[in-house]
Amino acid sequence: MKIVLFGAPGSGKGTQAVVLSAHYNVRTISLGDILRQEVKSGSSVGQQVKSYMERGLLVSDELVSRVIEENVDNEGFILDGYPRNLAQAKVLDSIFKKKKIEYDAFIYLEVDEKTLINRLSKRLVCKKCGANYHIENMPPKSTGICDLCGDELIQRKDDTPEVIRKRLEVFVGQSQAILDFYKSQGKFIEVNASAEKDEVFARILKILT
Ligand code: AP5
Repeated sequence: MKIVLFGAPGSGKGTQAVVLSAHYNVRTISLGDILRQEVKSGSSVGQQVKSYMERGLLVSDELVSRVIEENVDNEGFILDGYPRNLAQAKVLDSIFKKKKIEYDAFIYLEVDEKTLINRLSKRLVCKKCGANYHIENMPPKSTGICDLCGDELIQRKDDTPEVIRKRLEVFVGQSQAILDFYKSQGKFIEVNASAEKDEVFARILKILT
């Protein structure tokens, strides 16, 4: 299965990528996670992207496109966080052609803005393994502790009200062109993703099978 997951910040791309990759036994390629890892390691890529990510801006198309080209293959994947603008959508298309990859679906997770803000402002992530929680909707079993690895849960640096606003603004500015591009390719799926996690997953599977 080769899926491109698309949606606003907080639409649940990361959350659904985890369950979809387990279900189809394919790996997740999460641009946000890859970039955060680079920042954490202090690599030269990390140093280049840090300030953009902290301000809620997109990092350079060239840099992320290189990461994608190195990672997508015919083994199957759930791609989370790419493309984010029309230029990236066109690059992805040409990478697929070059590598003879036929993707199965472009899935747009549609969520209203009020829900997005609630999800992002109350998200917690594990400092060590990156697992994702929500204070109300998906709380950890013990407050502040990751169920999976037992490390500390923290708020992401880009989940402050000001940066959330900026990220949503960037999404709104870029999304229509991407949606139009994929609608014309015939593999476009739109899912109302405002429901709870398992229901959203069930809705996706129902369409895919
Ligand atoms: P990235 O990490 O990809 O951030 P994002 O797109 O803003 O998406 P999020 O991770 O915030 O949200 P999500 O949709 O994955 O939702 P989640 O499942 O976590 O990118 C970060 C930055 O990296 C960008 O701002 C940019 O700087 C850079 N970058 C990345 N890709 C790039 C690219 N291609 N080009 C250039 N720059 C790039 O869920 C959110 C919360 O809601 C969680 O708390 C979760 O528990 C909860 N939740 C999820 N689903 C549900 C549900 N159904 N019901 C209730 N709660 C739910």
